[in-house]
Amino acid sequence: MNHQHMNKSGAKTGNARLLAWIDQVAELCKPDSIHWCDGSQEEYDRLCEEMVQAGTMIRLNPELRPNSFLARSDPDDVARVEDRTFICSTTEEEAGPNNNWVAPDEMKQTLNGLFDGCMRGRVMYVCPFSMGPLGSPIAHIGVQVTDSAYAAVNMRIMTRMGDAVLDTLGAEGEFVPCLHSVGAPLAPGAADTAWPCSETKYIVHFPEDRSIWSYGSGYGGNALLGKKCFALRIASAMARDEGWLAEHMLILGLESPEGEKTYVAAAFPSACGKTNLAMLIPPTGFDGWKATTVGDDIAWIKPGKDGRLHAINPEAGYFGVAPGTSMDSNPNAMRMLAKNCIFTNVALTDDGDVWWEGMDGAPPAHAIDWQGNDWTPDSGRPAAHPNSRFTAPATECPSLDPDWEAPEGVPIDAFIFGGRLSRTFPLVYQARDWAHGVYMAATMGSEATAAAVGQAAIRRDPMAMLPFCGYNMGEYWAHWLAMGERVAKPPAIFRVNWFRKDGDGKFIWPGFGENMRVLKWVVDRVRGNATAEASPFGLMPRHEDMTWTGLDFPRESFLELTAIDRAEGLAEAEDQKEHFAQFNGQLPVALEQQRVDMTERLNQAPEVWRAEG
Ligand code: OXD
Ligand code: MN
Repeated sequence: MNHQHMNKSGAKTGNARLLAWIDQVAELCKPDSIHWCDGSQEEYDRLCEEMVQAGTMIRLNPELRPNSFLARSDPDDVARVEDRTFICSTTEEEAGPNNNWVAPDEMKQTLNGLFDGCMRGRVMYVCPFSMGPLGSPIAHIGVQVTDSAYAAVNMRIMTRMGDAVLDTLGAEGEFVPCLHSVGAPLAPGAADTAWPCSETKYIVHFPEDRSIWSYGSGYGGNALLGKKCFALRIASAMARDEGWLAEHMLILGLESPEGEKTYVAAAFPSACGKTNLAMLIPPTGFDGWKATTVGDDIAWIKPGKDGRLHAINPEAGYFGVAPGTSMDSNPNAMRMLAKNCIFTNVALTDDGDVWWEGMDGAPPAHAIDWQGNDWTPDSGRPAAHPNSRFTAPATECPSLDPDWEAPEGVPIDAFIFGGRLSRTFPLVYQARDWAHGVYMAATMGSEATAAAVGQAAIRRDPMAMLPFCGYNMGEYWAHWLAMGERVAKPPAIFRVNWFRKDGDGKFIWPGFGENMRVLKWVVDRVRGNATAEASPFGLMPRHEDMTWTGLDFPRESFLELTAIDRAEGLAEAEDQKEHFAQFNGQLPVALEQQRVDMTERLNQAPEVWRAEG
């Protein structure tokens, strides 16, 4: 143990590379002081109290929402800034058309200028963190340096953070350096603002150095660098180099009444109810079935000795979108938010609790909105920002899987990919083989507008990774194809669509907990307990292959929900050409071949294919 070793800044580590980096960063950023976060409850409580005193956070009514806080951000600092996010690999080709690119040397010069003196008047917090259970062979360590106490306390919820990480790191361990500044130095004696940030924002990744520099924002994925920056953008590049997968996926356990456990990992673009699926409660008719949550956003997946892929959730908390969360849509999340949470940009009720659009019951007659102004239901504007968030410890989640911290991860038997699509795409279909599944994932997306009628264009979001893949997406697809060869028992791959609409523009499928019926068919398929029909898209269930106890879902509705219209399918295949063309030069031929094969199957299919058996 190298605990005793302390350098002049109070570091409890003998890791020379870490100490040298901290010295270098301190010299550049020129903070007033340095604080090494130990990750303790006392430290968390003290930092929160200091932020309450400073006006950055409001303590919520302890009787209604114990040990919980509300923060309000600057109105111009409310979301991830994709146009200010950069992948600075050596060449532009390596970053790919899916990323903004600047040459590393040029970017480092810009950043050195911006970071010079950026922490004047502030404390520099050093947060050692582990993505994944400490010491797990699937986990990796990072160290975030930040001048935001808000970021530090959120990192304590979202990661394993503090002294124990330094012990695991040891003298020689590797870590990803994550430098963060809100970019708002304070002149001597100057008053601070409640949410310091800068108009100039840079969220920068150097995949070759495996380092992250984030400047100007204090919000979410811009500031909690373990999440999108490390666990997806840098980790996806690490995973390519080392033969694993870093994915934008929830991980869900499904346990049958006989106690058989099947784990699935699922990727969806935003606004498809990913957190709801991760915390799903099986509906009536599924007595004895249990659904358990391993993760709601990110999965790190490595080949196991048993020939299967094993996944961990690298995070230790949930940073979820608040609006729309209710006892109706996600009871487990509502229970999880009862205490020990940080809320950002939601509304404050007159009794000191939180509120957001879509919460159960009538809206409050009066509240304070996310910008701190008086609000009533007829104000004509939302009380909570649409991207307002909760930060909740995983341990508060009632459906948390007992093995969520298993160091070897959980074995994944199915990958599920989805999108929000009102037409063309059936409820569920299974890939014929691995390459077909990669093609299904590479072409996924959601409709650009939730149009009830007409041809809404699909905004493609391959594997839900478009904003998060730290290198060329064409190369990423090649890596996916190769991963299928690397393991003896690769997971089965499925596409789902909860959002198909009928001729009147109404959703055909009830969704939410009823999605369990689709998951049950997925489990039956991977366990060899269900048959499927070959459709032009893939393998599909017939009405009689699904479990309908507790839900009256007529055969005709099911046939409408699963029909494949030849003309629509061919238009889709044609539209995919343009999508693939962007990755010219890096597009694996196997994927174009899959597109051609699907076109051929459609050409041979009836005008409308139905799952009639
Ligand atoms: C998120 C996202 O915040 O995917 O998780 O945008
Ligand atoms: Mn996400």
